Amino acid sequence: MRHLLEVDDLTPGELGRVLDLAADPAPPQVLAGRGMALLFEKPSARTRNSMEMAVVQLGGHPMYIQGSEVGLDARESVEDIARTLACFHGAIGARVFAHTTVERMAALDLVPVVNMLSDAAHPLQALADVLTMRQLLGDLAGRSVTYVGDANNVFRSLALAAGMLGMEVRFTGPPGYRPGEVDTDRLAAAGVVVAGFDRPEEAVEGTDIVYTDVWTSMGQEGESAQRLLDFEGYQVDERLLDAAGAQALFLHCLPVHRGEEVSSGAVDGPASRVWQQAENRMHAARGLLAWLLGEAVHDENGGNP
Ligand code: CP
Ligand code: NVA
Repeated sequence: MRHLLEVDDLTPGELGRVLDLAADPAPPQVLAGRGMALLFEKPSARTRNSMEMAVVQLGGHPMYIQGSEVGLDARESVEDIARTLACFHGAIGARVFAHTTVERMAALDLVPVVNMLSDAAHPLQALADVLTMRQLLGDLAGRSVTYVGDANNVFRSLALAAGMLGMEVRFTGPPGYRPGEVDTDRLAAAGVVVAGFDRPEEAVEGTDIVYTDVWTSMGQEGESAQRLLDFEGYQVDERLLDAAGAQALFLHCLPVHRGEEVSSGAVDGPASRVWQQAENRMHAARGLLAWLLGEAVHDENGGNP
């Protein structure tokens, strides 16, 4: 059984296939008559709505569940919650604090599990990101994306997806917030090398895409005052986009914190493609689920439906 906990659960070929399916005008009704459980331990605007609509477009019924309602490891164990949801649903999506929570659900191998964001990874976002970049740039091989800020869940998944499709991946962020050894080892295993830069101006020069995310992720709110100080000088603003060059486009997974990691002028300016990127969350999610519940199952059964 296949799951999507991080982008490298897919081969580069499968990743390309998911992106192709995202553009399918007549998506296969792989969830006809079935449900998908969408469990959220954290808030969401894009992920919940894009997943609910993707499930509907594949013929299924999305079921939104708040983490506090089922009480992960409080009311009952993560495993017993997953076993219960698998009685009713064809797949489980979960947005969690600890990545181990989605790993524990997937280890049961009852139904496909999709990570809808954990402290470690945000693979659905990365699928939408590479889909957007492919729409903007065409073939991504040899193109470049420069991530400015915190080497967080969004960065890890983006670096994997972009690198697996042959992009040059650059990173710039302050000491203490750069990719660690675990990150670089995992990226290297997927054939991805990240070029690190101390100065944002140097990192973005000539790049195709400038990308940033919040400095304080969900669950890190207690660190936000310190992070505001530590990330000073790493805001993506009009001046940094100018330094990148006229070709550079701007992406952000959203939500933005205007005046922190990005200026209003950059989000709302001519280089920004963030709303196209947000819409692509739904198309990418639909492509992923069409593959995960369709072709991936078919392949596992040796070609038999
Ligand atoms: N980008 C993203 O995952 O947005 P939400 O947190 O609103 O789902
Ligand atoms: N890194 C952010 C992404 C939000 C979509 C977080 O985890 O809160």
